[in-house]
Amino acid sequence: MKLLPGPLRRRRPAEPDGRPAAVPGDGDLRRGHDALVREREKEAERQRRREAALEVPISVAGWLDERTGLGPFMRGLLYRKVPPSNWFYTLGSATLFAFLSQAVTGVFLAMYYRPSATEAYTSVQHITNDVFLGQLVRGMHKWGATVMMILIFLHLGRTFFFGAYKYPRELNWIIGVVLLVLTMVMGLTGYLLPFDQRSFWATVVAVNLNSSGPIIGPYLADFLRGGAEFGATTISRFYAIHMLLVPGLMAALIGAHLYLVVKLGVTAPPWMKAEKARELAKEEI
Ligand code: HEM
Repeated sequence: MKLLPGPLRRRRPAEPDGRPAAVPGDGDLRRGHDALVREREKEAERQRRREAALEVPISVAGWLDERTGLGPFMRGLLYRKVPPSNWFYTLGSATLFAFLSQAVTGVFLAMYYRPSATEAYTSVQHITNDVFLGQLVRGMHKWGATVMMILIFLHLGRTFFFGAYKYPRELNWIIGVVLLVLTMVMGLTGYLLPFDQRSFWATVVAVNLNSSGPIIGPYLADFLRGGAEFGATTISRFYAIHMLLVPGLMAALIGAHLYLVVKLGVTAPPWMKAEKARELAKEEI
């Protein structure tokens, strides 16, 4: 109880660190104060760690830049100006996504598939019936092939109708045509792999059609069959083309295709070009 006015009250002796000494009943206050200090220290430590974590990507990027000199290229890529675009421009990326999905599901299928005339059919049945999520992954790969075909044609149509095949993008158009042919080769070589009656006879027909082509036709058919007749080597040849040769080529060509898209930019939509032409015509008048 405070009976005396402030200045006359007896002062408690100070503790060595300058804080007033504790008096009975003061304990709760002191404990509360210490807990608050500890909490503030913890919060400061958390803040320091958060800031250090934010620094990590920056130092990783700096480390890489010092060793590769990729900095200016990445700045050019990320800060380049892009024209106002619309949904039509997403078709190329959608095709790219379909390609990546085929690559990922294909890797999982390859873990169980056996490319031999005696084992191919049973290994596909094993994937469908026994392997965990096998049917789903197989379905994604099978339907993904169809989706990729549809998307690539829609993307081709977009680039054609927007006049993106003209100067200076002719090379990118040619790369695109090669990508389209390679996507079809993926479809053809993949179709044989389940090795059931339908896939076998459909491939016989397709290869015979190839052989009727001019000049290179018969050679191409011999190359695909691995000889004059369908034999034990045909399926391993189709498998090697399907999972190594063509995907490798496609990955390299997609890289070149995207490099040119970044370098040249995308074509403006025809209605924007028409608007610009009208504005120019007005200025001339
Ligand atoms: C695996 C197949 C393909 C992938 C992954 C792919 C990917 C892309 C991407 C992401 C773009 C930029 C965004 C866009 O304009 O949509 C693009 C642009 C382009 N693509 Fe493809 N593409 C493929 C096949 C094709 C085909 C078959 C053609 C034509 C024959 C083609 C011709 C072009 C052209 C000319 C451009 C430039 C577009 C412009 O300047 O506006 N691409 N591609």
